[in-house]
Amino acid sequence: MADDIFLINKDGSFMIKPPKKSPLVLRMVVLAFSMVCGIYICSICLKQISTHTNLKFTNLELPERTCHASAIEKLEIPRVHYPKPKTYNRAECACNPVRFFAILSMQRSGSGWFETLLNSHINVSSNGEIFSVKDRRSNISSIVKTLDRVYNLDWFSSASKNECSAAVGLKWMLNQGLMEHHKEIVEYFNQKGVSAIFLFRRNLLRRMISVLANTYDRDVKLLNGTHKSHVHSPHEAEILAKYKPTINATLLIPNLKHVEDMTLKALEYFNSTRHIILYYEDLIKNRTKLTEVQEFLKIPQRDLKSRQVKIHKGSLAEQVENWDDVHNILKGTRYESFVHVDYEM
Ligand SMILES: *[C@@H]1O[C@H](CO)[C@@H](O)[C@H](O)[C@H]1NC(C)=O
Ligand SMILES: *[C@@H]1O[C@H](CO)[C@@H](O)[C@H](O)[C@H]1NC(C)=O
Ligand SMILES: *[C@@H]1O[C@H](CO)[C@@H](O)[C@H](O)[C@H]1NC(C)=O
Ligand SMILES: *[C@@H]1O[C@H](CO)[C@@H](O)[C@H](O)[C@H]1NC(C)=O
Ligand SMILES: *[C@@H]1O[C@H](CO)[C@@H](O)[C@H](O)[C@H]1NC(C)=O
Ligand SMILES: *[C@@H]1O[C@H](CO)[C@@H](O)[C@H](O)[C@H]1NC(C)=O
Repeated sequence: MADDIFLINKDGSFMIKPPKKSPLVLRMVVLAFSMVCGIYICSICLKQISTHTNLKFTNLELPERTCHASAIEKLEIPRVHYPKPKTYNRAECACNPVRFFAILSMQRSGSGWFETLLNSHINVSSNGEIFSVKDRRSNISSIVKTLDRVYNLDWFSSASKNECSAAVGLKWMLNQGLMEHHKEIVEYFNQKGVSAIFLFRRNLLRRMISVLANTYDRDVKLLNGTHKSHVHSPHEAEILAKYKPTINATLLIPNLKHVEDMTLKALEYFNSTRHIILYYEDLIKNRTKLTEVQEFLKIPQRDLKSRQVKIHKGSLAEQVENWDDVHNILKGTRYESFVHVDYEM
């Protein structure tokens, strides 16, 4: 560029009046001018380079907001999330998709056992019975606030795996505000893409015995003065199973019917959500059912394990004080099958 200017000036045709001063001075002026021009151009270039690198940095930060795995089907997109927890950074897992779920169940239906199985998966955080605390379910805004925290990965429990969770959820009993606020909760589930895992027990009589025994133990605390709903050794299970409840004959059928109705109602209420229905008995008989669950949650398949030991095993006749009464009442009703052995342990 400087050369060009020199050439033009040497030529002289550029000038209106030929210079009278010495050509050396003129050359110095032109040189100075071209230097100023050069510095100006350089500074503009530098500015552009620096704004360019700035853009690059913001681009690097963007994927946190715009993560999307190419392998995800279109239908799946509303159910795939990239939470940004308030309390920590998801670090290298920031772009791992997260699915939301809720285990909807009733007390003594094997949901505690089922949850320990799920939580043995390295990428699952099922945070327990969060809504057993009354304040959290006292109104729909409390419920939504609690759910938001869970699904934003900001809830901390012994089960939370935090940054590398691929599925996050909780265990929710039907009588913990779920039926009461079903309309808003279904809306929330469908809006946020929460999948429901129903877990029920087919044999409602076995469930009733477990409820009665658990209620008794809450008062009596058979295990060295500690109430336990779940145990980890056959010895503890044996102690808890020693108690044989007496079933109130008058209330037996109405109670079974009440539980049955509640189950059907829950299925009806949550019918529009994405859901799967599991039965405790099927899970015990056939562990490959757990593959189905992992497929439903779209998590990598793993062998799931639980350390929990079943408390009530074997024949029902040995588990109830007034078995003859119970047997007679159920005979000929649609609940008769409950008295038969339905699985071996
Ligand atoms: C909802 O319940 C929470 C906790 O019990 C309470 O603090 C809050 O005021 C309630 N909100 C409404 C709108 O009733
Ligand atoms: C599961 O967790 C592991 C270890 O934290 C992590 O490396 C992996 O990316 C996670 N997988 C998914 C699907 O999120
Ligand atoms: C109760 O405590 C005693 C002494 O600490 C111990 O040996 C026993 O195994 C405990 N029993 C149960 C059921 O935990
Ligand atoms: C069974 O329950 C009913 C209603 O709660 C009660 O009136 C009755 O006394 C109970 N029967 C026994 C044997 O406990
Ligand atoms: C759920 O909805 C489907 C189709 O809309 C219907 O066939 C089914 O009976 C419903 N189930 C319940 C439990 O309401
Ligand atoms: C176990 O469950 C799987 C998947 O749910 C099913 O394909 C298989 O037939 C079942 N096996 C038995 C023995 O029931």
